[in-house]
Amino acid sequence: KRAAVFVSGSGTNLEALLKRQEAGDLEAQIVTVISDRPDAFGLTRARDHGISSHYVQAKGRDKKDYESEVLDILRRAEVELIILAGYMRFVGPTLLAAYPNAIINIHPAYLPEFPGAHGILDAWNAGVKETGVTVHYVDEGVDTGPVILQERVPVPESGGLEALEAAVHAKEYDLFWRAVNQAVHDQD
Ligand code: GRF
Repeated sequence: KRAAVFVSGSGTNLEALLKRQEAGDLEAQIVTVISDRPDAFGLTRARDHGISSHYVQAKGRDKKDYESEVLDILRRAEVELIILAGYMRFVGPTLLAAYPNAIINIHPAYLPEFPGAHGILDAWNAGVKETGVTVHYVDEGVDTGPVILQERVPVPESGGLEALEAAVHAKEYDLFWRAVNQAVHDQD
């Protein structure tokens, strides 16, 4: 399955997926990386791995116009699966209609616990003993689509919020590629 990865920030999840791809573990083929942020380090990571990368402006544009431009890139690359890896925008009707049950997202909490843009901080502030990581299909809601894989992450006894962030990200890098492979098989 040809896949596109959408990023908005540092792209450490993209990096983890690319490493798995280069190791032959990933059953999707990441063929392009798209970002809504011109300064997303994920675009640099794509280039470093010899993968085409595109910045598409979203700010100040009608979502339909923005997503139509993204869709044009995806169609030209014959993309079949969209992987959101730290993509910080809601997916709109244009992309959802074009890729039904073919958009997946990683969330740094055990959904439905702690949805939204600050899953790790919210878990920390709630004082829970464990949180988790979830990979799910994207639907019209926010962090609400069917779960593909999710695993618990114990809150470290010491090290504060930084230690929790490190533990959650480590679990993300371990879980995401396995969830992508499962999604590829779901589509077979
Ligand atoms: C990850 O924790 C992801 O779950 C969340 O945003 C973060 C992105 O990190 N949506 P990166 O850009 O993959 O480093």
